[in-house]
Amino acid sequence: MTRKLIILTDPGQDQAAAILMILGQREAFDVLGLVATAGNISLDHTITNCLKLVELAGRPDIPVFAGCPQPIIRPLVMAEHVHGPTGLDGAHLPMPAIKVQQRHGVDFIIDTVRAHPGEITICSLSPLTNLAVALRKAPDIAGKIVEIVAMLGAYFEVGNITPTAEFNCYVDPEAADIVLKAGIRTTLLPLDVTHQMRSTPERLQAMLAFGNRCSVATAEMLEFSQAFDLGKYGWEGAPLHGPCVPAFMLAPEIFSGRLISVAVELNGTLTAGMTVADWWQITDRPKNVFYVRDGDPNAYYDLLIRSLGNLP
Ligand code: RIB
Repeated sequence: MTRKLIILTDPGQDQAAAILMILGQREAFDVLGLVATAGNISLDHTITNCLKLVELAGRPDIPVFAGCPQPIIRPLVMAEHVHGPTGLDGAHLPMPAIKVQQRHGVDFIIDTVRAHPGEITICSLSPLTNLAVALRKAPDIAGKIVEIVAMLGAYFEVGNITPTAEFNCYVDPEAADIVLKAGIRTTLLPLDVTHQMRSTPERLQAMLAFGNRCSVATAEMLEFSQAFDLGKYGWEGAPLHGPCVPAFMLAPEIFSGRLISVAVELNGTLTAGMTVADWWQITDRPKNVFYVRDGDPNAYYDLLIRSLGNLP
């Protein structure tokens, strides 16, 4: 069955890999549009990066929409220290010929979900600002979205932007709180599983060896963005977060997790943006999330590399 996707993204090299992975699986995914989010870098850069990526993949037909320029309440926190000043540093992608759509990304979400009730999967690689605003502006869409599959949160692996918070949640915890309380079927791919997916030199070499422009560009981007995490964690490869979202949709059997309650800390001075995952089901809070804790790295990279190899 082909899934209709709306992709929420603030590329970021790892999200570029995720977007290209999705576009390399045309039988599995019908991408209705990308909503550029402010996050890793500013909105103007994420818009440009989305346009660059659909052109790189030979899919200039896929519309790109601009979302909100900042989180719902908090000032924007970015991650240029990881992704570089443009967010896609590492690959030399030409400036795009195509243009961003005029319609706001929030209105695109609302209009598209209403036009396809019971058909849309929200594929979230970014902070959840635009989905949260859409839910506030049009509460009816909550019952029309099939599911949300999102890279967000951490519990056993703790935080990456603070000691307790994962970046996508930390940037806009109020948005994450709104979305996780909306009653929509939701799967989270947190740092607990993405940290198992490490881009070792062998895996990056296998990606390069395919030789097509999308595989080469992805390997070049990841070779740039890995520097910060290799220095931080000292692992044999940097964690590759974004592609866990399409990988879960393509091959859920290579992952494992459980349905639990996940809540977002909003008020802690040290813990704001923390996802409080009730893994041992200590509370009676509603089980609102399928929380993915483990995955098979070899199967993951095989799937990613094969998907990229399907592209130009
Ligand atoms: O916390 C990791 C995630 O935050 C990555 O997807 C990165 O691109 C940022 O969005």
